Amino acid sequence: MNVILIGFMGSGKTTIGKMLSGAAGYRFTDTDELIELREKRKINDIFATDGEEYFRDLETAVIKEIANTMDRTVISVGGGLPVRDENRTYMKQNAVTIYLRATVDSLCKRLGGDTTRPLLKGDDLRQRIESLMEKRSRIYEEAADFVLDTDSLLPSEVVEKLLEFLKQCDAV
Ligand code: S3P
Repeated sequence: MNVILIGFMGSGKTTIGKMLSGAAGYRFTDTDELIELREKRKINDIFATDGEEYFRDLETAVIKEIANTMDRTVISVGGGLPVRDENRTYMKQNAVTIYLRATVDSLCKRLGGDTTRPLLKGDDLRQRIESLMEKRSRIYEEAADFVLDTDSLLPSEVVEKLLEFLKQCDAV
């Protein structure tokens, strides 16, 4: 059994994933990190040189491999990964999925000044976030076995609530 964390960019998947894996005695991995390691270049470079579709194909290859090879691992997946139907099939294979939900307001605060995310480049961050969220929020909600609103919680409180959920699933 694995634990997959989904959510918008800046929703804390990596930070929470690392803390949760330690607390649950799981390993930790991150699909963006795996992709950058394999490609030996940053996501910004992948998008700029080969385009978004190429990156999305890399994501599909990575989530397929994870589903077939990893166990007792907390997996933080890129914000766009759950959008492809095929990827959601792999996500369901041997994992519970948790959606770390945050409001546009808090995402705006967290993502202001970020230069690492190609989809947020340019003017009007709020509008970019809103338009992506409009396309994705239902997908995130439907893909999740558990949705947690994180805006008013400290990271340690998020982890506590996720551990409670994992206990209910007999995953810890
Ligand atoms: C993306 C999210 C990013 C990264 C890429 C595209 C997206 O990951 O995969 O920049 O489409 O939402 P994080 O959610 O970890 O920032």
